[in-house]
Amino acid sequence: MKIDDCDAWARHQLAEVEAALDSLVPADAPAGLGLAMRYAVLDGGKRLRPLLVLAAAEAVQGDAFAAMRSAVAVELIHAYSLVHDDMPCMDDDALRRGKPTAHVAYGEAQAMLAGDAMQALAFDVLTPDDGIAPELQARLVRLLARASGSWGMAGGQAIDLASVGKALDEAQLRDMHRRKTGALLQASVLMGAACGPVSAASWEALAEYGDAIGLAFQVVDDILDCTQDSEMLGKTAGKDQDANKPTYVSTLGLARAQAYAVELRDQAQAALARAGLPAPGRLAWLADRLVERNN
Ligand code: IPE
Ligand code: IPE
Ligand code: MG
Ligand code: MG
Ligand code: MG
Repeated sequence: MKIDDCDAWARHQLAEVEAALDSLVPADAPAGLGLAMRYAVLDGGKRLRPLLVLAAAEAVQGDAFAAMRSAVAVELIHAYSLVHDDMPCMDDDALRRGKPTAHVAYGEAQAMLAGDAMQALAFDVLTPDDGIAPELQARLVRLLARASGSWGMAGGQAIDLASVGKALDEAQLRDMHRRKTGALLQASVLMGAACGPVSAASWEALAEYGDAIGLAFQVVDDILDCTQDSEMLGKTAGKDQDANKPTYVSTLGLARAQAYAVELRDQAQAALARAGLPAPGRLAWLADRLVERNN
């Protein structure tokens, strides 16, 4: 289907992603685990990572089934990371996506297990019996594993917790943000791109696009934490300062952090133009949306 208007395209894709998540996240997992998993991932969140996967797949005219499975897998990893991020042993948050956090609703042990199960489900979703060639399955699994594990999100989260109360310099902060948040956003772009034919040069340019928007995304998250209220965010505002976390705002100040987010967005757009893809329009639109968002 060809939809010219990006908002209409996003609405259409979001409905498809929601339906795919609904059908793939089991309600009947033992002892109520499925309910906690569904609570954590359905019906909430901006779904920017799935949109990036689908936009990148469209940009390379990639396979729609593999792209939708990738979109679901990335969102499952992201939602699991939020469940664990909110737990008392990490950021200790009570509000997420406008609802009580999973551990508040289901208890800490069930929330931890729901996160574990969502992580495993993400890889299960990428390895169906039919519909995705084995070589592509392996590539997608590797991209997602690298972005989620100690090299990426989990490693970045470890740095985040080890940095409480410390002043990080810009290079350290960039490294933490790239890992804890940027890696999964970059993987979203690359997984979408892996679903179609891409030259090595386009792949490199897309990796640069993903790196720039991935870092920009967490810079903006730091900014919104201290410029928006909890109702707008659907999560507790002012958390970073309360928890004494080093952020782009604490390190650069608000104005320079805002300027940096725009600079990264421009870098992403330049890299995207260099990629020379058949249909880059959605990716260009998403780079703007990621930086201009207010929640
Ligand atoms: C929040 O991510 C956590 C970060 C990695 C910064 P999002 O802002 O994408 O959260 P949802 O998915 O919309 O809830
Ligand atoms: C979260 O960073 C990064 C994750 C991997 C979940 P934050 O701790 O800043 O995310 P929020 O602000 O709670 O969504
Ligand atoms: Mg955190
Ligand atoms: Mg947090
Ligand atoms: Mg934050």
